Amino acid sequence: MEKTFLMVKPDGVQRGLVGEIVARFEKKGFQLVGAKLMSVPKELAEQHYAEHKEKPFFGELVDFITSSPVFAMVWQGENVIATARQMMGKTNPADAQPGTIRGDYGVSLSMNIIHGSDSPESAERELALWFGEGEQVEYQKAI
Ligand code: CMP
Repeated sequence: MEKTFLMVKPDGVQRGLVGEIVARFEKKGFQLVGAKLMSVPKELAEQHYAEHKEKPFFGELVDFITSSPVFAMVWQGENVIATARQMMGKTNPADAQPGTIRGDYGVSLSMNIIHGSDSPESAERELALWFGEGEQVEYQKAI
């Protein structure tokens, strides 16, 4: 079953949107298989955003994600990587459609509420980075 890494960023946690965001993915039919509320160490933030290392906003990105707790999650389901990206909406909330998470709640490019893996390769990399052994559950059967 396909898995993706999703994270409610500090702005989403502080605004009390964790429950709303979890509910959207649950109602869509995806399964939550890992979750933790955590403060992000600087080293992890830098590794997570490594592809943006040369961008002018890299420092801002790392400062923001380490500024207060995030809610890191693993979700599974058919086509969950691409579908979660659709449900999140465009990176810039100004361009995100109403009905998407960023379209409904996002404020700015950095305060865009949620991060989600953008490909199977990044999902694999990010899941390995954020979740260790024993931090995901398995469901025996659908109930
Ligand atoms: P995310 O999906 O977490 O991946 C990289 C993040 O960089 C992106 O969401 C935005 O929050 C942020 N970002 C992208 N472009 C800019 C920019 N021009 N200025 C500041 N932040 C940006």
